[in-house]
Amino acid sequence: MSRLNRSDRPYDIVLFGATGFVGALTAEYLAAHAPEGLRWAIAGRDEVKLRRLRDRLPGGAEPGVLRADVSDTASLRALAGQARVVATTVGPYVTYGEDLVAACADAGADYLDLTGEPEFVDLTYVRHDARARETGARLVHACGFDSVPHDLGVYFTVRQLPEGVPLTVDGFVTADAAFSGGTFASALGQFARGRRMVAAARERRRHEPRLMGRRAGAPTGSPRFAPEVGAWALPLPTIDPQIVRRSAKALERYGPDFRYRHYAAVRRLPVAVGGVAGVGALFAAAQVPPVRRWLSERLKPGDGPSAERRARSWFSVRFVGEGGGRRVFTEVSGGDPGYDETAKMFAEAALALALDDLPETAGQVTTAVAMGDALIDRLGAAGIRFRVAARR
Ligand SMILES: NC(=O)c1ccc[n+]([C@@H]2O[C@H](COP(=O)([O-])OP(=O)(O)OC[C@H]3O[C@@H](n4cnc5c(N)ncnc54)[C@H](OP(=O)(O)O)[C@@H]3O)[C@@H](O)[C@H]2O)c1
Repeated sequence: MSRLNRSDRPYDIVLFGATGFVGALTAEYLAAHAPEGLRWAIAGRDEVKLRRLRDRLPGGAEPGVLRADVSDTASLRALAGQARVVATTVGPYVTYGEDLVAACADAGADYLDLTGEPEFVDLTYVRHDARARETGARLVHACGFDSVPHDLGVYFTVRQLPEGVPLTVDGFVTADAAFSGGTFASALGQFARGRRMVAAARERRRHEPRLMGRRAGAPTGSPRFAPEVGAWALPLPTIDPQIVRRSAKALERYGPDFRYRHYAAVRRLPVAVGGVAGVGALFAAAQVPPVRRWLSERLKPGDGPSAERRARSWFSVRFVGEGGGRRVFTEVSGGDPGYDETAKMFAEAALALALDDLPETAGQVTTAVAMGDALIDRLGAAGIRFRVAARR
């Protein structure tokens, strides 16, 4: 692996999509928390909007301002060439994201995003992982609520269990939060692309080396009452179990035979039934283009929950890990999952890639593999709690 010499680049971190809902929260977080001397820039397609954002950043922060547009490949290449780390919020990623991944892989710039779109992650693996390994670029997808608390929460749980034995971990997600226009657009788009998602996963399987001598799985569980957390558990078909499985494949510490199941935890059965019906209805609506268009106009890009609504929001992911005769209960918890905490996770992941002493990795890597302990420490210091609740 030959990591390109990147120390002479003008910026440690470039935040692309800084004018969007999560982008602006991330810029504010960096302005308030980046260490002195960090060289960073905000980037986007509208320079006037970028300058207006810079003027209202806290603490008199004065990041650089870079213009780039996803429809102008040369501008993306110029952006990747100026940065050690590029963090992008420009989604839906399957529509807007690939050229920037390609530019970062070629330039040897580390890349991170907020995607929760399995199709996009599989496509970029097939098309850009090999090039990124050559240049030393780390391509880290899903650095927000998808999938940081789940990926790092499982990593944290595994470390509480014995080494060298088969391990199982179940994750139970509970949250009270609202979502933004950008997230709504990405979710709707994803629901409409089921077939392409399956095709991309198949293509990935053809390219990905098989795991030899160990097993790592993330089977879909069944709906059930889970006495271990005192709630109804509904299988959650998000990207998270796929990310956890990739971490388990890459890290020996997950043992010879690892299995993860991912659930939403709901206290009351009628709420569980209503939730499943609601997601089912949205999925059905997304298959009909005019209905999908009508729905996407209800929440515009750039819109999102108010600061008051976000202040009341919270999340908790409880994990039950078992193996080698031991059982451990752990929890990752924090405030507003979709935005405030996502911006925090995203900014801290960018800072970790830019500044921390991390394991040597390259190509498409998960947050646990690229940043594991360093990112857990950073998030803990920033108020996202990782704790062991009980051991048996
Ligand atoms: N994983 C998670 O937990 C999580 C949580 C929250 C959000 N997300 C994802 O993050 C993404 C952003 O969400 P959001 O709510 O912040 O969306 P948003 O408010 O719509 O922001 C989108 C950003 O993309 C920019 N953009 C759009 N087209 C562009 C182009 N052609 N060239 C350059 N920039 C362009 C927009 O620039 P303008 O300002 O110029 O329009 C804006 O800065 C979505 O994909 C969402 O699903 C993930």
